[in-house]
Amino acid sequence: IMDTFKLSDGNEIPMEGFGTYKINEQSEMDAAIKMAYEVGYRLFDTAQFYGNEAVLGQAIKNNGIARGDIFITTKIPEPKQGYDSTLKAVDESLQRLQTDYLDLVLVHWPIHSEFFNTWRALEDAKAAGKIKSIGVSNYHRTHLEFLKTQAREMPVVNQIEDHPYLSQPTMVDFNKQAGILTQAWSPLGRGAVLKDPVIAKIGAAHNKSVAQVILRWHLQRGVSIIPKSGKPERVKQNADIYDFTLSDEEMNMINDLNKNQRTGDDPELVYELEHQYH
Ligand code: A2P
Repeated sequence: IMDTFKLSDGNEIPMEGFGTYKINEQSEMDAAIKMAYEVGYRLFDTAQFYGNEAVLGQAIKNNGIARGDIFITTKIPEPKQGYDSTLKAVDESLQRLQTDYLDLVLVHWPIHSEFFNTWRALEDAKAAGKIKSIGVSNYHRTHLEFLKTQAREMPVVNQIEDHPYLSQPTMVDFNKQAGILTQAWSPLGRGAVLKDPVIAKIGAAHNKSVAQVILRWHLQRGVSIIPKSGKPERVKQNADIYDFTLSDEEMNMINDLNKNQRTGDDPELVYELEHQYH
C-alpha cells in the first residue's frame, strides 16, 4: 500500500519509513518492528548514533522478516568520518544488523572536515556491493554543490529536518533539481505543529488527525517521511494516510505555515563554525 520512489541510481525506495530513534530495548524493538511490518512499513531507519543497530537486526530476525522484503537505512556518525574509518564503520553496521548489504547509508551530518573522504568511502563500499544506495543527511546546498564538482556519484537522498513550520521549499527544490530525494526527519515537528489549528481544521474535514494530514502533505510535495512513535496506535495511524488527498488549496494553507523554525541544529551554521575553528 505504501508508495515507492525510483531513486536516481535506479533503486526503489519506500516513500514512508519507520524511524527507530530512541527505541533501544530488545522487547520494545521486537514489538515496534512487528507492528510496523504488519501495517505496511518496509523501510527501517537507524543510525550508528542511535546505538540500536544490533537490536534492530535482532528484531528483524526475531520477527522472521525476510531480508529481501525490507529496506534498511543507517548513517555514519561524525567520529567515524574519514576514508578508512567510514569503510570500517560500514562493516560494523553490516555485522550489527546481521546482513551482507545495506540498502541506504547516509553521512549523518556534514560537520566534519573529512566529509569528502567519507563520501569517497561510501562510493567505494557501494562499488564493493556492501551498499545499494548512498546519500547524505543535513547537507546544505554548499556541500551538495561541492560534491557535484568532485564526486563520482551524487547522493540519491538528502535527509533533512522538515515539517510545516520548517518546510524548506528552496532546499527541497534544490534536491529535486539535483535528482535527490528529500527525506524528512522529524516530519511531525516535535510537538507544537501537532496542535496547529489550521491543520486541525483540514484534518476534521477529512476525518484524519493532524499527524496524518502533515504526513500526507509531505508525500504530496514529493518529500519522503520517517515518522517515529513508541505507541502502537500511532504507528498504525501514521501508515493510514493513503485513502485521502489534500486539495491544492489545503496544500497551500499548510505551505503558508512555514516560519523557518528548527527543532535541531542548523547544518549551515555548523558547517561555518567547522571552517572557522578547524
Ligand atoms: P510518541 O512516541 O510518544 O508517539 P517526529 O520527531 O518524527 O516528528 O515525531 C515527534 C513525536 O511525535 C514522536 O516522538 C511521537 O511521540 C509523536 N508522534 C508520532 N506519531 C504521532 C501521531 N500520530 N500523533 C501524535 N503524536 C505522534
